Amino acid sequence: MIDDVRAAADAAVARLAEVAVLAEAQALETELLGKKGPFAEFKTRLGGLATVDEKKAVGQAVNEATQRVAAAVQARVAELKRAERAVQLEAERIDLTEVLSRPSRGHAHIVTQAWQRLEDVFVGLGFQVAEGPEVETDWYNFEALNMPPDHPARSMHDTFYVDHGTPGSTVLRTHTSPVQIRVMQRVAPPIYMIMPGRVFRNETTDATHLAVFHQIEGLVIDRGITLADLAGTIESFTKAFFGEGFSSRLRPSYFPFTEPSAEFDIRTPKGDWLELGGCGMVPPTVLRAGGLDPEEWSGFAFGFGIDRMAKERHAVGDVREMYTNDIRFVEQF
Ligand code: PHE
Repeated sequence: MIDDVRAAADAAVARLAEVAVLAEAQALETELLGKKGPFAEFKTRLGGLATVDEKKAVGQAVNEATQRVAAAVQARVAELKRAERAVQLEAERIDLTEVLSRPSRGHAHIVTQAWQRLEDVFVGLGFQVAEGPEVETDWYNFEALNMPPDHPARSMHDTFYVDHGTPGSTVLRTHTSPVQIRVMQRVAPPIYMIMPGRVFRNETTDATHLAVFHQIEGLVIDRGITLADLAGTIESFTKAFFGEGFSSRLRPSYFPFTEPSAEFDIRTPKGDWLELGGCGMVPPTVLRAGGLDPEEWSGFAFGFGIDRMAKERHAVGDVREMYTNDIRFVEQF
């Protein structure tokens, strides 16, 4: 009988080795070691043996065989679990090298980059940022800025009119200066504000002119502000934005909504002059239009083109190229 027991154990171990699926190995465990298995059967037969010694010897053989089979089952189950896990992992694997072969990441448009850098520099100088509407009333865009209906300066602003309200009363803003008035009406001085945004001129486009472009307006209103504060602010901005090697100058000019008025230029380290924008002191009429008392408050304003800055910075030959959305152009920056 001892031989039978050992032979049964050998057979069991051999069958286990052939099992290739985890569920089958688990089923085999019940079949071999369960109540109806061969070793349970051998145990029931122990009672029928003649001598105590015989019972002892066979009993020991049955125990040994059971242990051997149990160990083999455990090892086989563990092995198959590992194999199944490996198959699962392989199936769920994410190929990260795919990401590397995709097109490279995009970036902000050069005009957006210039806009953001301008905001950063002015915020660093203590300014806050405000925005106004792109569709404006004639009053904010012209009249409040000292350009009554027949003012000759209006002809410099080739205006797009919007079909809304009384004919001629609604425009696409031709500059960001109307936001000056809105800020004065809304914010109690002192005001140190920049106002970037999109503006529109009914013009034929060429290498240096667009019909839709961007400006950034600056407005300072405080007590005792003078032209020296304006010149100093432009100079600080120039150095902060372009670098220490750059400087600025004001050139007398004319704008209806500043008095005195100037244009400001930037001097590059090579000695070239770059025309940047307009500026001047805010006159009493404009302060009053903004609801401020000219006896108490004084200030200055400036404005310049953002697209121009991007064009100069990246030496773009033709401003129109910036809006063709040609990926070969955009990718260069
Ligand atoms: N709004 C003027 C323009 O578009 C620029 C400017 C702004 C001039 C503020 C003076 C003061 O040309």
